[in-house]
Amino acid sequence: MRTDNAPVVRLSEYRPTDYAIDTVYLDIRLMPEASSVTARLSISRRDGAAAGTSLDLDGDGLVLKGLSLDGMGVADEARTVTPDRLTIHAPPADPFVLEIVTTLNPSANKALMGLYRSNGVYTTQCEAEGFRRITYFLDRPDVLSVYTTRIEARKSEAPVLLGNGNPVTAGNITGTDRHFAVWHDPHPKPPYLFAVVGGDLDAVHDSFTTASGRVVKLAIYCEHGKADRCAYAMDALKRSMRWDEERFGREYDLDVFNIVAVSDFNMGAMENKGLNVFNDKYVLVDPQTGTDQDYAHVEAVIAHEYFHNWTGNRITCRDWFQLCLKEGLTVFRDQEFSAQMRSRPVKRIGDVVALRQHQFPEDAGPLAHPVRPETYREINNFYTATVYEKGAEVCRMLQTVLGEDGFREGLDVYFQRHDGDAATIEDFLACFADATGADLTQFSLWYEQAGTPAVSVSHDFDADTQTLTMTLRQSVPETPDGKTKKPMHIPLRFGLVGPDGQDLSYGEVSGGRVNDDVIHFTGATATLTFSGVTARPVPSLLRGFSAPIRLEDDLCANDRFFLIGHDSDPFSRWEAAQQIALTMLTDATAKLRQDETPAFDPRFAEALGGLADNDGLDPAFRALALTLPGEVDIAQAIGHDVDPDAIHGARQALLKETGSAIGTLVSEAVSRNAPPAMFRPEAEDAGRRALRHASWNLSLASEPAASKQIAEAYSQAEYLTDRVAALRLLVHHQSGEAESLLAEFYDRYRDNPLVLDKWFAIQATAPGGQTLERVEALTAHPAFSMATPNRVYALIRSFAAANPTGFNREDGAGYRFLTGVIATLDKDNPSVAARLATGFRSFAMLEDSRRAAAQAALQALSATGNLSRDVADIIDRTLDDSSINA
Ligand code: PHE
Ligand code: ZN
Repeated sequence: MRTDNAPVVRLSEYRPTDYAIDTVYLDIRLMPEASSVTARLSISRRDGAAAGTSLDLDGDGLVLKGLSLDGMGVADEARTVTPDRLTIHAPPADPFVLEIVTTLNPSANKALMGLYRSNGVYTTQCEAEGFRRITYFLDRPDVLSVYTTRIEARKSEAPVLLGNGNPVTAGNITGTDRHFAVWHDPHPKPPYLFAVVGGDLDAVHDSFTTASGRVVKLAIYCEHGKADRCAYAMDALKRSMRWDEERFGREYDLDVFNIVAVSDFNMGAMENKGLNVFNDKYVLVDPQTGTDQDYAHVEAVIAHEYFHNWTGNRITCRDWFQLCLKEGLTVFRDQEFSAQMRSRPVKRIGDVVALRQHQFPEDAGPLAHPVRPETYREINNFYTATVYEKGAEVCRMLQTVLGEDGFREGLDVYFQRHDGDAATIEDFLACFADATGADLTQFSLWYEQAGTPAVSVSHDFDADTQTLTMTLRQSVPETPDGKTKKPMHIPLRFGLVGPDGQDLSYGEVSGGRVNDDVIHFTGATATLTFSGVTARPVPSLLRGFSAPIRLEDDLCANDRFFLIGHDSDPFSRWEAAQQIALTMLTDATAKLRQDETPAFDPRFAEALGGLADNDGLDPAFRALALTLPGEVDIAQAIGHDVDPDAIHGARQALLKETGSAIGTLVSEAVSRNAPPAMFRPEAEDAGRRALRHASWNLSLASEPAASKQIAEAYSQAEYLTDRVAALRLLVHHQSGEAESLLAEFYDRYRDNPLVLDKWFAIQATAPGGQTLERVEALTAHPAFSMATPNRVYALIRSFAAANPTGFNREDGAGYRFLTGVIATLDKDNPSVAARLATGFRSFAMLEDSRRAAAQAALQALSATGNLSRDVADIIDRTLDDSSINA
């Protein structure tokens, strides 16, 4: 498929289908190389469509074996069939039944879309447009049908047969070695939520009683030998089910809820109705094979997919432009869940770190798009940080704007009004406007305008009149869509911190709307005057990161140090330290590029020491405070003419200086806050472990001899999270112990693919130009395979997306390596290849020689001419960046 003939899909051209498919009966006979699918579709014309309007069904590489309409054959001239389309030229005026027989080869399906077989397990992936790889259909989210699925397979090959909804019957097919199962899903759903699974699977079982007393059978299926790692996921599932009842009044609606963990999966997981399919990375954990981060991810993804049952499944999207309707809202819900299960401020800081690392660069580069895009060539490329993470931020802002009660009332209206619908963002916002009376017209710009808004604030205090004047200015940067941007409604949660660290009260506010500690900044500029401010305050703005913006305030270093010590909002304390670090790091980077030695304000290390030493603070928070801004954050702050080596050098220098100053103090804090010897996944213990790892990092940066101790800690580690942390640090610091421990780690975990992924990723992210040779060599390692997305992500994506000095090697070899991998992988798995291609999204901000090398590599890839639509879309948009072509 070439770009040139891939049509651009536009939101403005949305039109409902002429036909509805009311019920779907599928009979799927699983065979490794020739499965057959019989689809019986009850079709009716929608009101408004003219009788005789042709029926155009989507397909993708299908082989048609049979076709009948109301039990009669369809004459050749009455239909047009290609692998990608089935047209019935003049269907009957009255409802009719179309029966379609197709065959397919699940074993040859390397794209992992549609029906595929991996590790002997049959599974499906239909979002976004995979159902059309199974049968001809109106494959779009606004076609809702009631599905009944019969699945048949050889008993020995697939003793377990699962479908959507509730089980109806099952049995043997006498005289054969085959059996069948029938599933019925009473809830009308779009085709992207369809799923079947067949395989020889192990399982863990449990049950959950809903608030209204319905008993739901729960099961998690996995490959044999892995069931003992499912307990935590099951526990997270039950907690998610309870939480959605308590927080949002949402109950589960079927008799069974099944999860299947598979080892070859393009994405994280999929919310198919009653039958979630997971990348097993987000299911399987135990202390010996999962890190603390893995536990947190499992909990979050299990919750996310479960929460989709209401936000996504019961109410789905009218079209794919509305993807954030389900994804942004569901991410917001899973973030709230994790915040409540763990520590709210720590969760918030972690989410902001991730947003800045993934979404901000996307929003600042050639792939920027609104939370609700208006055009696409390939929808697979829009499962982005902007749709997911910024989409979640928009929901959070809506809650800030309406208050928690108003937000909940609006959501209740949404669930009531749109249950069973395929809805839009307009529908969603109207529920909140109707429930609360709020005018959300300006707020809705968050869905339309790409780019991260910048807000600058200056302030002035007049002690005589006790007034504080604050001047705010906002701007939304230019983005590839060339739209002229309007001022947004930006909610700034704030406090005026007084000399004793308490928030000062204030009297009247003029010049803008302020309530409940939130400034509602809606104009291009605003000048707010606070009266009755009795002492000089330090304004703490953007508490809790109340809006996804870049804030440029006019606080001096003293003010920021004061906030680190005193702000009542933990996020703001952390943020004040990050901002000081960022300023020092951008200066230091500039110095290094001029061969000068950077110098750092010693008060910074002191301030971090103050936090680390404070046993009144959560160890997890202290660990975050001891983590400097990442190289991506520094590059974003610099913005242009970026030299990744200088950035890395600057960051290491600050780390070293900090370690020298407070390393001892931090390790004493670690001793006082040691986790219990027995591993428990609880956030509290995880925080203590994180503090220990942060301390190792500081010691190693300032004292290479510390590697001995850390190697010792590796050998004595009781569980994986310590072992991985120690190994990563030793490898990344090129310590003498690294190679032998890498070998030890490999031997220990060679039979566990998920842990081996970490072994690949640790090596791929070792900073420095020499890593490329290592990564290239690892592509030839017997354990490496391009057919396993997790392995590709561990080695190749880690290298391209999380190793700035390695990937951006000065001679451009990193770029050519990546385009080579993309070209190879694209032939089998375009969606994974396209994800790798996003590694180039920030290349325009690099210094000239690297930028030219990256551009040349991209142009060479583009010139090969036979790229998938997925990859061509990413490469074309990346090369179209106006800042390089100007
Ligand atoms: N809808 C899935 C989720 O976010 C993501 C996904 C998209 C999975 C496309 C597979 C394919 O929960
Ligand atoms: Zn989702």
